[in-house]
Amino acid sequence: MIEITDLRKSFDSNDVLRGIDITIHDGETVAIIGESGCGKSVLLKHIIGLMHPDSGTVTVDGISIPDAKEEVLYALRRRIGFLFQSAALFDSMTVYENVVLGLWEAGERDEDKLREIATEKLGLVGLRGILDSKPSSLSGGMKKRVGLARALAMQPQYMFYDEPTTGLDPVTSDQIDFLILSLTERLSTTNLIVTHDLFTVNRIAKRVIYLNKGLIFFDGTPQELMQSSDRQVMQFVERFVR
Ligand SMILES: Nc1ncnc2c1ncn2[C@@H]1O[C@H](COP(=O)(O)OP(=O)(O)O)[C@@H](O)[C@H]1O
Ligand SMILES: [Mg+2]
Repeated sequence: MIEITDLRKSFDSNDVLRGIDITIHDGETVAIIGESGCGKSVLLKHIIGLMHPDSGTVTVDGISIPDAKEEVLYALRRRIGFLFQSAALFDSMTVYENVVLGLWEAGERDEDKLREIATEKLGLVGLRGILDSKPSSLSGGMKKRVGLARALAMQPQYMFYDEPTTGLDPVTSDQIDFLILSLTERLSTTNLIVTHDLFTVNRIAKRVIYLNKGLIFFDGTPQELMQSSDRQVMQFVERFVR
């Protein structure tokens, strides 16, 4: 469970988060939406302890993130799978090496076991026969899938997706959406999806939080969002229907 209370963060005179309260229960799939630059990634970074708040609290499974020691954060992050906007693969390594990197870092050295896990996780994201390929030979959508397989290899309890479809063509975006949807149904992870793609929201999330001007402007179901009579919410919805 993730609990965020009165979270505030400014960069000089830029007040990015101005008092955010969110509780995310285990098993939920929550989308966080808002204009580019509104603080979605900054919020994610506070949850994983990559940024320190000016004030307010963030706890994950009862651990206070701003107060946690580096080794506690490290252990917690191993339970969180990330899919960053850029798939962040290492071009010098093969797909196989990229997928098992976290396991290798955690001390797993059994090559047969590692290859088996890589094959299984790549299968989950619909990729086969590319273990020994280099990321540079893959399309953008395939790189995203490899990044996803790498996150899944750690058997995460949480999955955080930061703009999973940004920069992909519509067909590939649809494929990634459906993949995330099938994974959220199949794995019992708690999922946070940062996006500005309302198609993604409608397909995947049961709950959507709209960040605007450093505050939570809306927290409800995607259906309620689409039917909102709030003028600012309506303007956002109109602008971001692709
Ligand atoms: N490390 C940083 N130092 C200064 N400003 C930052 C930093 N990270 C983010 N910001 C600013 O915070 C705001 C929110 O950024 P971000 O969370 O990345 O937006 P988005 O909603 O597009 O993910 C932006 O104005 C950005 O310039
Ligand atoms: Mg961002």
